[in-house]
Amino acid sequence: MSIELQNIHFSYGRIKALNGVSLSVGEGATGLLGPNGAGKSTLIRIMLGFLVPDEGEGRVLGYDLRTEQKQIRRLVGYMPEEDCYIPGMDAVTFTAMMGELSGMPRQEAMKRAHEVLFYVGLGEVRYRQIDTYSAGMRQRLKLAQALVHDPKLLFLDEPTANLDPTGRQEILELIREVASVREIRVLLSSHILSDIELVCHQVVIINRGEIVATGRLEDLRMINYQLFELRVRGETGAFRRELEEAGCRLEETEDHLLKIYTPPDFDRRQIFLSAARNRVQIRHFVCSRTSLEDLFARVVGVD
Ligand SMILES: Nc1ncnc2c1ncn2[C@@H]1O[C@H](COP(=O)(O)OP(=O)(O)O)[C@@H](O)[C@H]1O
Ligand SMILES: [Mg+2]
Repeated sequence: MSIELQNIHFSYGRIKALNGVSLSVGEGATGLLGPNGAGKSTLIRIMLGFLVPDEGEGRVLGYDLRTEQKQIRRLVGYMPEEDCYIPGMDAVTFTAMMGELSGMPRQEAMKRAHEVLFYVGLGEVRYRQIDTYSAGMRQRLKLAQALVHDPKLLFLDEPTANLDPTGRQEILELIREVASVREIRVLLSSHILSDIELVCHQVVIINRGEIVATGRLEDLRMINYQLFELRVRGETGAFRRELEEAGCRLEETEDHLLKIYTPPDFDRRQIFLSAARNRVQIRHFVCSRTSLEDLFARVVGVD
């Protein structure tokens, strides 16, 4: 296992950011998906030992996150959410310095800095001052400094933030290559499902400090919830209650489209039987499979 967490709690003063997170992550690339404020960055900072959990235990690459942060940081590369460069410095100097901070000898850090900057496509501009870099170049530089000490595991916190569609595509391709060709384990945090779908095989969905779903993307896509969209006429109270008691989840859109999410093994005839019993007239009935996008929207409660 590369990451194992048990019942992690963390609060910033009175704000509860993580509420009992348990998790285990193995090989490959894993997405950490959740809306803004879900607790993704907090969780990553805890795994790096920058923040100490109020409660709970965990190991990263086998090392205890309370007592062995040094070993963890030597083996983990971290691409933070916010810009981390130092004004007035060129990319090679900066990247080499980050290598030294991770415990590499100076000469080796400098050699690796050149290599890794070529690797992320900044070879030609590696002596330029970072201040003159575009947003896309800065993201690449952030990736380079995360890779300089040859980590076994990479934490990438919202690497596509503030990028245009082309920049986003480019950095995701690069991350995918890092994860596959170079066999580094990756934890990619994002609030955008399609980012994660492009790079990851597994996903962990987090919302309001709690893990709400986890699994392989292909399995989650298969989740056997069915969605029916109806337009109905009549007094629908009893009809709705019957369906809810049968395990369905109901939503009504502003233009009075009734959405019914039915659980696995639900027989759709029950909808018609219940409508007839309660004198509800069905004017329109469409059956659509729920997508992963729907699943995400539902577990995080947005539409
Ligand atoms: N330094 C901080 N001080 C106080 N509250 C914070 C701080 N950082 C994050 N929070 C709060 O903790 C929760 C989780 O935030 P965060 O981990 O940054 O989520 P995410 O990275 O998923 O957007 C949010 O409610 C956020 O407002
Ligand atoms: Mg964040």
